Amino acid sequence: MKFSSSFGALSASALLLATSVNAAIELDINDRESIKKAAAIAAAGMRKWYTGDRPGDVPGNLPDPYYWWECGAMFNAFVDYWYYTGDDQYNAITMQALQHQIGDYNAFMPQNQSKTLGNDDQAFWGMAAMSAAENKMEDLPTDQGPSWLALAQATFNTQAPRWNTENCGGGLKWQIFSFNNGFNYRNTISNGCFFNLASRLYKYTGNQTYADWAVKAWNWERAIGLMSEDFHFFDGTDDRQNCSSLNRIQWSYNAGVHMAGAAAMWNATQSEEWKTKLTGIIKGTDVFFKDNVMFEVACEQKGTCNVDQRSFKAYLSRWMGYSMLVAPWTRDLLLTRMQTSAQAAAKQCNAGDNGTTCGLRWTNNGVNDGSFGVGEQMAALEVMQNLLLDEVPGPVTEQAGGISKSDPSAGSEAQSEPVEFDTITTGDKAGAGFLTTVVLIMILAGAWWMVS
Ligand SMILES: *[C@@H]1O[C@H](CO)[C@@H](O)[C@H](O)[C@H]1NC(C)=O
Ligand SMILES: *[C@@H]1O[C@H](CO)[C@@H](O)[C@H](O)[C@H]1NC(C)=O
Ligand SMILES: *[C@@H]1O[C@H](CO)[C@@H](O)[C@H](O)[C@H]1NC(C)=O
Ligand SMILES: *[C@@H]1O[C@H](CO)[C@@H](O)[C@H](O)[C@H]1NC(C)=O
Ligand SMILES: *[C@@H]1O[C@H](CO)[C@@H](O)[C@H](O)[C@H]1NC(C)=O
Repeated sequence: MKFSSSFGALSASALLLATSVNAAIELDINDRESIKKAAAIAAAGMRKWYTGDRPGDVPGNLPDPYYWWECGAMFNAFVDYWYYTGDDQYNAITMQALQHQIGDYNAFMPQNQSKTLGNDDQAFWGMAAMSAAENKMEDLPTDQGPSWLALAQATFNTQAPRWNTENCGGGLKWQIFSFNNGFNYRNTISNGCFFNLASRLYKYTGNQTYADWAVKAWNWERAIGLMSEDFHFFDGTDDRQNCSSLNRIQWSYNAGVHMAGAAAMWNATQSEEWKTKLTGIIKGTDVFFKDNVMFEVACEQKGTCNVDQRSFKAYLSRWMGYSMLVAPWTRDLLLTRMQTSAQAAAKQCNAGDNGTTCGLRWTNNGVNDGSFGVGEQMAALEVMQNLLLDEVPGPVTEQAGGISKSDPSAGSEAQSEPVEFDTITTGDKAGAGFLTTVVLIMILAGAWWMVS
């Protein structure tokens, strides 16, 4: 994942113009067939961006400008699409992609992605595998790869030993490899993904070790201030300054990733403590809604969301849906927002040849803003398909319905092996130096984006 930046915000796709105006995706939020139809159209629109299954292309990769992590995030959307709608037409490309990107330690660490492989990037693939296990997607045949659950466990088992107490009293660094730009950054999404995965593994397996790590990650984020007392989540902090100052920009996916983790913790413990925390996180997401319609507050209105950021609403939607499934009392707080946002999203999915292509902005009463891509399409899909929550029983556990095979020690061999990847060229180093400067400037300028 790349550092939050307003540079490069205008991609080629943003320059395309919305052609058709009168069509849109029709959506009746009270009719499940209508929701399924709408989701199917949005899913087809997302699928069109994927080329990895073509001969000569690589399964699990999206073409430029998309980074590797977003492809994992996209396949998580397809896993959930199948779960919510029963439409399995994308399952084959989903399994093919997940299998192809397993990489080292059976933990979603393909060597040729090492330059873009941060803890968050890895975790988005790990969370896709976790969703496959929770949704009872058939495991890969045993001679073709580990189970979905084992892949999620391996992701967790490779990340837990990276917990870094050299500075800041703990936490995960953003990057795994020191040659990558951003190695000194401790970002909220990396720690949030780890919290999310640990919480869901705890709910799924009941293994206390995962719960202990979830609590540890939560407490650390709170202590450093990545999470504020009133449950706002800031982007990250620099460990060369012992995490003493914060980049306070707020992204919807940071709130979402913690929301789902807290919901899983509540489900597994049913404690007042997690209920209070989950309620607080939900309240904190007020900042991402305008008249109950979701928007990416830090960049959307200014038109500066980069390619990564244009997908973030997909994850807040996904994790709101997950929260309502595992902590049903949150429906009172979340459902109206999901419905209103879905309606608004569908209304502006009116561009392109078929008049069903979605833009980024849902808040402009059906006017498509002409920003097209995987992220825009995925966000619209997620906010619609999560309305189908009454159609599904919710994530299974090992004791209640689970079929994915557990392997608690998956990925643990990573601890004893030094990492050796392709050597960096001078060009890469120069690039990294430049980017480090950019990162620093942006941390200093952090207050400029501050959202409270
Ligand atoms: C990268 O590595 C994977 C295996 O981990 C391989 O399947 C793929 O073809 C390689 N190449 C690219 C460009 O991803
Ligand atoms: C660095 O931060 C940690 C966590 O806040 C704190 O416990 C530690 O004392 C700090 N170290 C220094 C040298 O300031
Ligand atoms: C916990 O989550 C499951 C779905 O994963 C759901 O069926 C169950 O009702 C939830 N438990 C409580 C107490 O709400
Ligand atoms: C338009 O819809 C048709 C039929 O559903 C489909 O085959 C085609 O790919 C779509 N084209 C675009 C540009 O959406
Ligand atoms: C619980 O999870 C930890 C961490 O992955 C693992 O080392 C341990 O063996 C697991 N315990 C059981 C009983 O599965």
